[in-house]
Amino acid sequence: MEFRTERLLLRSARADDLKGLHAILSDPRAMAYWSSPPHQKLDQTRDWLASMIAIQPSEGEDFIVEFEGQLIGKAGLWRFPEIGFIFHPEHWGRGFAREALAPVLDRAFSVHGLPKVDADVDPRNGSSLKLLGRLGFHETGRKERTWLIADQWCDSIYLELDAGGWRQRRP
Ligand SMILES: CC(C)(COP(=O)(O)OP(=O)(O)OC[C@H]1O[C@@H](n2cnc3c(N)ncnc32)[C@H](O)[C@@H]1OP(=O)(O)O)[C@@H](O)C(=O)NCCC(=O)NCCS
Repeated sequence: MEFRTERLLLRSARADDLKGLHAILSDPRAMAYWSSPPHQKLDQTRDWLASMIAIQPSEGEDFIVEFEGQLIGKAGLWRFPEIGFIFHPEHWGRGFAREALAPVLDRAFSVHGLPKVDADVDPRNGSSLKLLGRLGFHETGRKERTWLIADQWCDSIYLELDAGGWRQRRP
């Protein structure tokens, strides 16, 4: 499946996305608050990509994001109802994540009929919190020591957005 926004193409993942995805998942800036350390080996990204390709329509819906024919990130509901997104740092600060997530959220509520979409964000991840706030997400709780990543405990802020909240915020 694929569809376009004003500037972006969102499409299903394929095996030849490996290099483009690895450029992101191996970048310490992009991975600073991710659920795993930066990928050191291409094989780690290969496994990650295989699980992205294998997502069943009943489980989730995740998209590769392209700008001018280049893979710049991924955005989607990697597992209903949880949102997940990561973009190459060279493409931050241009509103691409927000633009890609708008149709993801439209589909979450109108196609998949989800009552709400969830996010789990490291409290230090200011850009992600800012983005989710702009999309209308609100905090529902916090928990300490939720993720052990490279021997370091990280915390979580939990956020959610429901269909009514999205209708009000939708660009
Ligand atoms: C989280 C992440 C996707 C945010 O990227 P981003 O580019 O800052 O997000 P947005 O698409 O919302 O862009 C907003 C910025 O673009 C600017 N911008 C420029 N042109 C714009 C446009 N046409 N439309 C909207 N915003 C625009 C905005 O002013 C804003 O800048 P600011 O943050 O200085 O205020 C990115 O930091 C990332 O990939 N992080 C690593 C992965 C990660 O942490 N994922 C989340 C795990 S929970």
